[in-house]
Amino acid sequence: MNSDEEIEQISLSLTLYAERIGDMVPFVYERFFELDKNAKTLMEYSDEHMRGRMFASVLELLMSDEHLDAGGYLDWELDNHLRAYGATPAMYETFFESVVTTLAEGLGDEWTEIWSQVWQDRLARIMTHVKVHESRFLELNA
Ligand code: HEM
Repeated sequence: MNSDEEIEQISLSLTLYAERIGDMVPFVYERFFELDKNAKTLMEYSDEHMRGRMFASVLELLMSDEHLDAGGYLDWELDNHLRAYGATPAMYETFFESVVTTLAEGLGDEWTEIWSQVWQDRLARIMTHVKVHESRFLELNA
């Protein structure tokens, strides 16, 4: 499956969730904070609006390859998050896991094997970026 098809499948799964259940944002953060108490502490002063804006950026990232280019949005965002906020690659992993589990559980029987694969592939690609960025950051600060 090429990238455009991948993005289309991701978009379809999110649209179906929105139609069937509604806003997934509160469930994603609830799950994320249950799985990672340090992330919860890091985000304790964020309100629902900030969380909503952050989630909107996550969706943009998922829906466009451009953001993954060197020097693109993801690199810029990782500079902020890893350096300034103290987020870690493990937190990214858990955050993404929370998104996918919320979707899959919410959609139940309507969740498909294809979606499972597509989400896994795209998130793996983003996570590779996150880890490379983190190791460069650690090298610079060694
Ligand atoms: C790809 C994943 C992510 C994207 C695209 C993203 C994007 C953003 C954006 C755009 C904001 C600013 C929102 C605003 O105030 O307008 C933000 C804030 C923040 N994010 Fe993320 N984020 C991501 C993952 C994470 C993860 C995994 C953590 C770990 C806990 C995290 C922690 C924070 C914190 C602590 C703030 C608030 C900083 C403050 O107090 O102003 N983010 N994020």
